[in-house]
Amino acid sequence: MISKEEVEEKIKKLAKQINEDYAGKELLLICILKGSIFFTAELAKQLTVPAILDFMSVSSYGNDTISSKQVTIKKDLEEDIDGKEILIIEDIIDTGLTMKRLKEMLLERKPASLKVCALLNKTSRRVVPLEIDYIGFEIPDKFVVGYGMDYAQKYRNLPYIGIIE
Ligand code: IMP
Ligand code: MG
Repeated sequence: MISKEEVEEKIKKLAKQINEDYAGKELLLICILKGSIFFTAELAKQLTVPAILDFMSVSSYGNDTISSKQVTIKKDLEEDIDGKEILIIEDIIDTGLTMKRLKEMLLERKPASLKVCALLNKTSRRVVPLEIDYIGFEIPDKFVVGYGMDYAQKYRNLPYIGIIE
């Protein structure tokens, strides 16, 4: 669906925007494991603003179609985010339920700011309103893999983004 070159070109553009928006500030990037590892790594390398990296892993269960999904933290941050500029790095936003809940949980920790950067966005699947500050690509309702994203834990290491038929 999207070549390695297209992904990398887009990440450069996102980084340029982030560098402008956060000029003079220090950023704390939260990489949401495992899907966002390559995206975070590539984006972080393009940042010129000082950036700290931290990692978090969440799992979500429940119904996709009604707006209830239980989101639990499997691995929490090591950093204290109180008073810091936080940018959540996510591979893909689908129904939006995971990110909505994650934002709520992180906002309780009183960051100075909290923004979201997603490589892919499936707006047509959204079941809750959600503000995403930086979006790489808008994609149709297809199940995608590669560049960190999996199908039953496989295909994460593909250097491009493909569709599972
Ligand atoms: P949401 O709560 O429905 O927005 O779920 C978002 C999460 O579901 C993402 O972080 C992914 O882990 C996973 N996901 C949603 N769509 C896809 C896809 O097309 N490929 C791989 N993972 C996906
Ligand atoms: Mg994910």
